[in-house]
Amino acid sequence: MALPTDHDDPLFATAPDRHGTGSEKWDRWAGRDVIPTWVADMDFAAPGVVLEAIHARVDHGVFGYTEPPPGFAPALADHLQRRHDWRIDPSWVTSTPGVVNALAVTARLFTQPGEGIISFTPVYPPFLSLPGLAGRTSIRVPLAPGEERWEIDFDALEAAVTPTTRLFWLCHPHNPTGTVFRRDDLLAIAEFAARHRLRVISDEIWSDLLLDEEHGGRRHVPFASLDHDAAREAVTLVAPSKTWNLAGLGCAAAICRDPGILGRWRPAGGGLVPMITPLGYAAAEAAWLHGDPWRRRLVALLRRHRSMVQEAVAGIAGLACIPAEATYLAWIDCRAAGVPDPQAACVAAGIGPSDGRDFAAPGFIRLNTACPTDRLAEILRRLTRAFVG
Ligand SMILES: Cc1ncc(COP(=O)(O)O)c(C=O)c1O
Repeated sequence: MALPTDHDDPLFATAPDRHGTGSEKWDRWAGRDVIPTWVADMDFAAPGVVLEAIHARVDHGVFGYTEPPPGFAPALADHLQRRHDWRIDPSWVTSTPGVVNALAVTARLFTQPGEGIISFTPVYPPFLSLPGLAGRTSIRVPLAPGEERWEIDFDALEAAVTPTTRLFWLCHPHNPTGTVFRRDDLLAIAEFAARHRLRVISDEIWSDLLLDEEHGGRRHVPFASLDHDAAREAVTLVAPSKTWNLAGLGCAAAICRDPGILGRWRPAGGGLVPMITPLGYAAAEAAWLHGDPWRRRLVALLRRHRSMVQEAVAGIAGLACIPAEATYLAWIDCRAAGVPDPQAACVAAGIGPSDGRDFAAPGFIRLNTACPTDRLAEILRRLTRAFVG
């Protein structure tokens, strides 16, 4: 499918009204003139190829307990090979109802109470809360703002790791900064992990939304695809949910070479890991097999939206944003704006971003740009109103 050359791709010009659908994103400020731009789902309908697959599964009519259908793991393997040049064996795949659920399982599978799980901050909030909920310790290492991206401070990493740290939860690409870690970064992480006997759990849920890939820019390197022992031991978590807007269908996958670990996966969940719904499987398989043309059009839109955000932020004194290399998120530093509570100022101006405090970064906000362009333009007008008045 040819990419539309103009800026107004009809596929994303409008979005269904989500009021009254139980949308977490839209219900948060229900009844108020606040445009939600926080939780990471998109306002767009899922691709037609995915809807058709769901319809076909509905037409079958039977929705009993469902194991991964035979096409599920091969569809993911095919997708990873095509998109990221990573060859996996379908037997390395287990399904999970979500990446957050999978992270929680890894805490219980690979660590004992009190042991440590290390991650970079700022970070997607469950990385911060799940270790404590499992009785484990969260060890946090700040990324450093660089010229072009947020970067790893390896000295800080060495200083933070403890003898009882067991896991490295890597968010790659990184939410909320949008950093795409380079092969060199990943190799250095692998060395670090091997030196300290840490297992890497790489959350790659954003790996199909790299914004500059089509233009010869950075590509995603799956951590587990490295030629390194730490990579061979890693567990990779992926899902179609961010890329094709399927989060409500609860279908993700964990990839790991060790069949013993996959066998212990569900028991480690202590009975709290539910089976995945047949509709989730149908959607995931269709997205991985047939969703790429839609994805490419989406990325073109998101690239344009990133420029709009950068332009708006540059026009507001005291705001700064290192452009994301991946995701549809903009991580905005408001600390120099002289506004004591940026989140509250935004809500008062009629937009609801994510609050940096939830990511261990007070003074920041995170904007979700995955909405029709005219809605984003209004969000950015209101952003200006929040800080300029
Ligand atoms: C880095 C990251 N991991 C996991 C998730 C959520 O995954 P799931 O809905 O599969 O639990 C998100 C959602 O925004 C995310 O950004």
